[in-house]
Amino acid sequence: MDIDSLLTFDRGRSLFLPAHGRGAALPKELKQLLKNRAGIWDLPELPGIGGPLDAHGAVFISQKRSAVGMGADRCWYGINGATGLLQAALFSMARPGQAVLMPRNVHRSLIQACALSDLNPLLFDVPFLSDRGHVVPPDEMWIQEVLDELPIEGVEVGAVVLVNPTYHGYASDLEPLVKIFHQRGWPVLVDEAHGAHFASGIKKQLPASGLSVGADLIVHSLHKSAAGLVQTAVLWQQGDLVDPIAVERSISWVQTSSPSALLLASCEAAIRDLTRPSGQRKLIARIDDARHIATRLRELGLPLLPNQDPLRLILHTAILGISGFEADDWLIQHRVVAELPEPGCLTFCLGLADQKGLIRLLKRGWDSLVVKNSGREPFKPFLAPPIPRLAVPSMSCSAAWRSKVKTISLNDSVGRISADLICPYPPGIPMLIPGEVLDQKRVEWLLEQKRLWPNLISPQLRVVS
Ligand SMILES: Cc1ncc(COP(=O)(O)O)c(C=O)c1O
Repeated sequence: MDIDSLLTFDRGRSLFLPAHGRGAALPKELKQLLKNRAGIWDLPELPGIGGPLDAHGAVFISQKRSAVGMGADRCWYGINGATGLLQAALFSMARPGQAVLMPRNVHRSLIQACALSDLNPLLFDVPFLSDRGHVVPPDEMWIQEVLDELPIEGVEVGAVVLVNPTYHGYASDLEPLVKIFHQRGWPVLVDEAHGAHFASGIKKQLPASGLSVGADLIVHSLHKSAAGLVQTAVLWQQGDLVDPIAVERSISWVQTSSPSALLLASCEAAIRDLTRPSGQRKLIARIDDARHIATRLRELGLPLLPNQDPLRLILHTAILGISGFEADDWLIQHRVVAELPEPGCLTFCLGLADQKGLIRLLKRGWDSLVVKNSGREPFKPFLAPPIPRLAVPSMSCSAAWRSKVKTISLNDSVGRISADLICPYPPGIPMLIPGEVLDQKRVEWLLEQKRLWPNLISPQLRVVS
């Protein structure tokens, strides 16, 4: 079947990303634009339009306006998702050979950025919830304990990365964390791919955005948490710990030389929607609806886990002995399409479209799933990854990734150094990165993960030969 034939058919209820819900919540100017003759809007950087790195043209003016509107010093629109901007951001913050302090649950793009630019990921462990197999962001005390492990001989920290919120919508209080790192003079990049709406300024008890707590660089994936087309993102910069010229130089290394004017227009419209009254009214309505949906579903017996982002619903399937993958398959047959199936949960992204009728739909799907699987035992607690509070890779990530490799079975990998990233997607969180040593406990844990994530983890692994 050709790709185009798969793009327009009705898949049922879209509880997956992009957050505009298959067009329903796109900003009005973008809907208008797309109604024009097909393809007329497909343009690269042309005089008058320009691109994210130009000092003139409509994109330049638009970025300036967006930065002022959000209270940032600068911003750059991105057309290669949060991925491209996170990588450019990291390149601009630290020098080759320096370490980047980051939580275990960073997105793979940041590990890849380290490998590409010879930065050393200094990964710290994060709290693990064994009933569901999720990690959650650390609090101030946790970070203090991580910092107690420093200094480490030969390790010079150049930058810090934080994730706010996680894919599941878990968030912690960012402000004290940013302060702690700033006291040490380290610039902080916040991967806020899933939290653009936190920066909207609406009064709905959302977690704080990195923008409002003084982080230096913040990346929003506009298709994940605002009304942008797929691949749209924005990088915000503020303060004087990161040089904006370094950011621009870094973006120019990874950005296409033909950025799509359509996607840039979508970046502009998605950000505008976050800050203008009509967009904020829509967001407030969606958040009110989402809180109502969650309350009602809980009253009806659906096991939804608490989190901090009302637009993400986490169904805790493990407590009935059902995997998130089984639940997903079942619900897809019933025309409900979720975003993130995992061994113990299924996460739905409500997005910005109206979810009328969702309570009935989910209740019906869940009830039939429970009847079909009745009598099962709840899952045993998930094993926390056997990793130290702070892990210094035994070989540089970059060197391991580029080294001569040998492909072996995961079963035979004890004592070897990984040249691979083991990373089921979604959620895109690495379980093993290049340069890490595979000890017995880690291999046993990975084999258990392989069992839990069928088809998403290869039985083979490339190791440094
Ligand atoms: C936490 C996090 N950061 C970054 C990304 C990358 O975002 P994008 O798909 O916009 O490149 C993802 C994607 O899943 C993510 O979950």
